[in-house]
Amino acid sequence: MLILKSRQELTDFVQSIRAKRLTIGFVPTMGALHEGHLFLIKKAIEENQYTLCSIFVNPTQFNNSADLEKYPRTEETDIKKLESAGCDAVYLPKVEDMYPSGFENDPIDLGGLDSVMEGAFRPGHFQGMATVVKRLLLQTQPTKAYFGEKDFQQLQIIRQMVRNEKLPVEIIGVPIVREESGLAMSSRNMRLSPEFKERSVFIYHTLLKAKELSSQLSPQQIISEVEKIYSNSDFKLEYFTIAEEKTLQTHDKFEENSRYRAFVAAFAGEIRLIDNIQIR
Ligand code: PAF
Repeated sequence: MLILKSRQELTDFVQSIRAKRLTIGFVPTMGALHEGHLFLIKKAIEENQYTLCSIFVNPTQFNNSADLEKYPRTEETDIKKLESAGCDAVYLPKVEDMYPSGFENDPIDLGGLDSVMEGAFRPGHFQGMATVVKRLLLQTQPTKAYFGEKDFQQLQIIRQMVRNEKLPVEIIGVPIVREESGLAMSSRNMRLSPEFKERSVFIYHTLLKAKELSSQLSPQQIISEVEKIYSNSDFKLEYFTIAEEKTLQTHDKFEENSRYRAFVAAFAGEIRLIDNIQIR
């Protein structure tokens, strides 16, 4: 596997592939790779002639500096995992490759999709994320780029940005990979205490409960029921909501021809976890 340590090395790699008219599948990550990331790599390998991954912990998408500091950094193990998964190249940009003129976000219109859920609780997060993803897509020029549905709001925002900015790439959303228990795989899981690691499947169970209730109750009634379950637990709920997939807006009632997801953010001890499932 090629290890590309600068923007110039990346550009040479991309140009050599593009010159042969071969396809590139791109998987951007912030490292601390787990089975969920490796599933994205697997999809990219299946659908493209070359697979490129990037590892860059993007400072502008952290609205809390302690969170940025504590974000797990496991570069050596990540590289080994990518190699065993059959990835062709990994791009490890330096801060100056992504932010040559300081930490300023690009003015990207996210169409309001960034004002709800994660956007409401993590101000500036999506502008920072969109900025780095746009820059990565421009630098890597992939045919297809792969993102997990665990960050479903992020996925929809990236789709919107790619449409608005007319970037020539196909965005592929990939289903969530879960632990055997049902807990959604996340780089943050490695920071959970063993006790919370075992019990955090609770969050997935509340999503399944919402799905079960969706045949009888309205979105708001389901939200109230699930909030009650959280208030009797030691998981601190930040939000639990039900939104239409494309607009990410909540509706008073389920419309026949729309798809809905339940979304949750909750604290397991100190660690903030998010998850979602399609409920209708
Ligand atoms: O989902 C992530 O890991 C990050 O938000 C991404 C897409 C790599 C941008 O930094």
